[in-house]
Amino acid sequence: MHQDMKKTINVGVCGLGTVGAGTVQLLQNNMALIQQRTGVTIRVTRAATIDAYQHLDIDFKDLAVTDSVDDVLNDPDIDVIVELIGGDGLAKKIILEAFDKGKSVVTANKALIAKHSQEIFRSAFESSGMFGFEASVGGGIPIIRSIRDGFSGDRIESISGIMNGTANYILSSMSNDGTEFNDALKMAQEKGYAEADPTFDIEGIDTAHKVVILMELAFNAFFDFDQLYTEGITKIEPADIQLARQFGYAIKLIGQAHNSEKGIEGRVHPALVSLNNMLASVQGAFNAISVTGNFVGNTLSYGAGAGSHPTASAVAGDIIEISRRLTNLGGEATPPLSASFDRLEKVDLIPMEETESRFFLRFNTKNPDEGLAIVGEELNRKDIKIGEQQILEPGLNGEKSVAILIPAVSESKMQTALNHLNGLDALSGSIGYIRIFE
Ligand SMILES: NC(=O)c1ccc[n+]([C@@H]2O[C@H](COP(=O)([O-])OP(=O)(O)OC[C@H]3O[C@@H](n4cnc5c(N)ncnc54)[C@H](OP(=O)(O)O)[C@@H]3O)[C@@H](O)[C@H]2O)c1
Repeated sequence: MHQDMKKTINVGVCGLGTVGAGTVQLLQNNMALIQQRTGVTIRVTRAATIDAYQHLDIDFKDLAVTDSVDDVLNDPDIDVIVELIGGDGLAKKIILEAFDKGKSVVTANKALIAKHSQEIFRSAFESSGMFGFEASVGGGIPIIRSIRDGFSGDRIESISGIMNGTANYILSSMSNDGTEFNDALKMAQEKGYAEADPTFDIEGIDTAHKVVILMELAFNAFFDFDQLYTEGITKIEPADIQLARQFGYAIKLIGQAHNSEKGIEGRVHPALVSLNNMLASVQGAFNAISVTGNFVGNTLSYGAGAGSHPTASAVAGDIIEISRRLTNLGGEATPPLSASFDRLEKVDLIPMEETESRFFLRFNTKNPDEGLAIVGEELNRKDIKIGEQQILEPGLNGEKSVAILIPAVSESKMQTALNHLNGLDALSGSIGYIRIFE
């Protein structure tokens, strides 16, 4: 911990892209306000980025720009290194080297933290620098601070929510306008919500990165990212959304984790969310994250989950907290994962096959009565009960779409039954399934 009581903190930013440029803008535009609040002058003195950047709405008078991150890392006057390049190559080198030099680090890089958390947090633990990663989950929503500081006395029982704005924008468009998945994705890309390569967003991988980070913080352990069950939204059809609504549900991409007597469960998949649940009304590119603690009860945080300015707000919050500590507070900062690194162990997740869910099944058929009888009989043979049913016509290709709700059943039992059902001639195409969020 730095104990020198200086009043100016120098920041080096690696990556002047969407979030990097927003961060510099915020620190420059709100400089007087931040100074008034904290008594600290925070100056971005160096930035590393590659391409043309002069067009950005940034004052470059006192800001030296380089194309080499080493110029930032090796500047002895820089106190805080902000990594906003992304990925797990150069970004990892920047963070590890900065900690090695005793500098503090701020990042928004959820992919890197989720996949290399033990290495990154060990490096932070062994460094005299501090670590901020608020922007890695929920964009501008201060969810990391809420869990680490606000709920630090609670036993966290569950975390769940909508953590990817792109996927939520796509599902909202499909739901509001009946748009097909591919058209909704194209619209998201045109509006700048989706990357040219949207794989991480639509396949649930980005949400999974965020769930792992929240789990480590909330459940005081390290988890293996590859153990988290992850399923995206590419198989959702407008018919699923309409049928779900007939039952009183919306379809959302939900990341969730539970701390039960059996152990820790974590998963990401599309889910039917009751229209009475506030998560069902989260529209467009917004995020909402619910945390349940044994004393606080249910909480819900809502806001812009991404974008230049909201994410910059979270990055700036971390820079300011670190700057306050470096200049005014002294003493030990709260460990980045709440518990100190040396008190955290790796824990296995409960395998997905051992979890239980209610299910929504949907199939297309020319003859709903016959289809329902066959599916009902097959499920009955597998000891799976069927609940409410709904029919949508016209469904696909002049056929009818039939949906059935299935009461709670184990994942392994349901998957075995689905494999069997998919071989039946009476159903056109494969049978779609979506789990129901409790
Ligand atoms: N965008 C969001 O809303 C958002 C939200 C939450 C978290 N994040 C996270 O924030 C991080 C940054 O995302 P972003 O959207 O700001 O990405 P971005 O717009 O692609 O910006 C990345 C920046 O890094 C620069 N860069 C790439 N390679 C470099 C190198 N070798 N040396 C120096 N600079 C280099 C790029 O320069 P060029 O453009 O010239 O290549 C670009 O300016 C990622 O980890 C992302 O997951 C983003």
